[in-house]
Amino acid sequence: MEKGFVDKEIDPSLDLFAEIEQLKKEKNAIILAHYYQEPDIQDVADYIGDSLGLAQQAEQTNADLIVFAGVHFMAETAKILNPSKKVLLPDLNAGCSLADSAPAGPFRAFKEKHPDHLVVSYINCTAEIKALSDIICTSGNAIKIIESIPKEQPILFAPDKNLGAYLNKISGREMLLWNGACMVHEIFSLEKITKLKIRHPQAKLIAHPECEEAILRMADYIGSTTQLLKYTKTDHATEYIVATETGILHQMQQDNPQKTFIPAPPNNNCACNDCPHMKLNTLEKLYLCMKYEAPEITMDETLRLAAKKPMDRMLAISRAAGLLG
Ligand code: 13P
Ligand code: SF4
Repeated sequence: MEKGFVDKEIDPSLDLFAEIEQLKKEKNAIILAHYYQEPDIQDVADYIGDSLGLAQQAEQTNADLIVFAGVHFMAETAKILNPSKKVLLPDLNAGCSLADSAPAGPFRAFKEKHPDHLVVSYINCTAEIKALSDIICTSGNAIKIIESIPKEQPILFAPDKNLGAYLNKISGREMLLWNGACMVHEIFSLEKITKLKIRHPQAKLIAHPECEEAILRMADYIGSTTQLLKYTKTDHATEYIVATETGILHQMQQDNPQKTFIPAPPNNNCACNDCPHMKLNTLEKLYLCMKYEAPEITMDETLRLAAKKPMDRMLAISRAAGLLG
């Protein structure tokens, strides 16, 4: 959807917050938003969470319309888990560099070369990759998922090599890693973070496990977006350098108004720790997508059923481990 279309379509005098609330009621819609969405979208959402929480909400909701304020693989996940609902994504171009780093054809060939390996895929992948996987994990449950697999079972982990290397380190396993990465989490500058720490000696570095090993080695705490947010609420420090996408700072600041949150600096002068895919969604596009019930996520039923199996395994292990709310 082009910006020009948005400008033409929306009466500028409209209160979009009120209009969206109205549309929610009229259409029995739920807005699920990832923490990386812009603050206005987080503020109108019914639920804000990490990939695990969002998947669970999508599976359980009674709403007729799931409006997914996130990226394509997340909306696809909602459709996989709750196919009778209409799932909308405000901008269909909201992709993911990590999901793009594992195309189905080469991945299938890689898997075929390692037939004895169990395939564990991070949820940041397409439905086709999910369908080729045995179990899915998220950053919030990855450790539990890996620990649930017998030690002697070889594992192929995809698509994030950074999360995979981190899991290898803490589990003591030697999973075979697909060579994929997230463009946002690979951009942080070790040198600039080190300098920032000198200027803010009390600040703790908190990082998402999609970051490179050198950043993770320096971190005081590593976790999914939900885990990072929980940590800032219970920990006693008053200053944090946050090595993940900047959208999470909105909730951190709201939950801890007396604390200071500094986005970890990227290795150049751009705003590269804003995810360009996540930020394609805007309040205007959210409003239009609810009004016209488009763009909609649709999926071939054979693909959906194949992608659902490893998702169901993930949810069952997470439930047994007490990781679901
Ligand atoms: P979580 O939602 O699991 O924290 O992962 C972050 C992410 O990169 C989503 O795209
Ligand atoms: Fe994908 Fe990275 Fe953006 Fe998350 S932050 S949606 S992993 S590109």
